[in-house]
Amino acid sequence: MSTDTMQAMVLEKTGEGAGLVMRHVPCKQPGPGQAQVSLHAAALNRRDVWIRLGRYAGIQLPAILGSDGAGIVSAVGEGVGKEWLGQAVVINPSIGFGPSEDAQGANYRILGMPDDGTYAESIVVPAANLAKKPAHLSFVEAAALPLAGLTAYRALCVRGQLRPGQTVLIPGIGSGVSTMALLFAQHLGARVIVTSGSPDKLAAAAERGASFGVSYRDADWEEQIAKYLGGAHVDVVVDGAGAEAWSKSLNLLRPGGRIVSYGATAGLCQIDLRKVFWKQLNILGTTMGSERDFAEMMALVEAGKLRPCVDGVLPLREAMQAHQRMEQGQQMGKLVLQIRD
Ligand SMILES: NC(=O)c1ccc[n+]([C@@H]2O[C@H](COP(=O)([O-])OP(=O)(O)OC[C@H]3O[C@@H](n4cnc5c(N)ncnc54)[C@H](OP(=O)(O)O)[C@@H]3O)[C@@H](O)[C@H]2O)c1
Repeated sequence: MSTDTMQAMVLEKTGEGAGLVMRHVPCKQPGPGQAQVSLHAAALNRRDVWIRLGRYAGIQLPAILGSDGAGIVSAVGEGVGKEWLGQAVVINPSIGFGPSEDAQGANYRILGMPDDGTYAESIVVPAANLAKKPAHLSFVEAAALPLAGLTAYRALCVRGQLRPGQTVLIPGIGSGVSTMALLFAQHLGARVIVTSGSPDKLAAAAERGASFGVSYRDADWEEQIAKYLGGAHVDVVVDGAGAEAWSKSLNLLRPGGRIVSYGATAGLCQIDLRKVFWKQLNILGTTMGSERDFAEMMALVEAGKLRPCVDGVLPLREAMQAHQRMEQGQQMGKLVLQIRD
């Protein structure tokens, strides 16, 4: 890589059929409080696909997408400790969450549009957003961790308050966040029930510790779970799919249970409010997470030597193939782009 320019996959227009193109772009240098990371791997999130399709608020073009990245610190700006130089790192994509742990502040941004993202050879980020790469993870595994890991951790542990021995329902287990939630919940000693549209993904979830799985394509999926529970209930639902399945999940929750919503890939739904007030349910929204959440998530991964579920690895220049796989819902876990060996 020349020090002046780098290769990046650039989004120049949005909409159905819009692609990403490899371009030589200026290689930015870190300003005060910033660090430059020479990226080894980046990972996809559904957000990247929404932006490419033009279905995201505040799109600015051209854009370098990508919220997830891992690499080696190659330069630091004024005020940043020199000990970071040469350090293998993971980037926290949650920028400027703000002082409140309740919710992000007005200046909050997610890395990767409008700020240049990780589908590139190099990136400049606030040094406060660097974390040391866990030694047990490869760069590919480390890149799979940040956005989905942060979202799953806050949804499950902070908002969902999941406790050992409790039961959690994770609809649509194929998603990056869902696979991370399964990993964390299982590690924390909870019983995990999943749904998926794919028998192969249900089998993969069982291998990763899910106690029970059912196809959400079965009209009676809710009854199948109720039968498995044998009169018991779900304590927490962690959902990124939305749609009608969301309101059915309320039936499976125990009185006083929690449903945590972080996305609506499959669409919106109507809720029967009578279920909510009579069962005294807690409906909770969540988005990404704070610096504290990220640090706790990284500590959990370190302590448990946890490994994110990687669906596949493609070279950076094949980012579009990875996007297509995600658009078609084929992935089980994270799709990673290899930038350097
Ligand atoms: N709020 C936040 O901070 C945050 C963070 C990350 C993501 N998100 C949002 O959360 C959603 C999930 O993102 P992601 O990247 O993890 O995954 P994703 O690629 O959008 O996957 C969504 C999953 O939904 C499942 N699904 C589809 N139709 C379903 C249905 N009818 N019932 C149940 N599940 C269904 C599929 O599961 P199977 O493949 O198993 O069939 C699919 O894998 C996206 O909308 C994303 O924008 C929000």
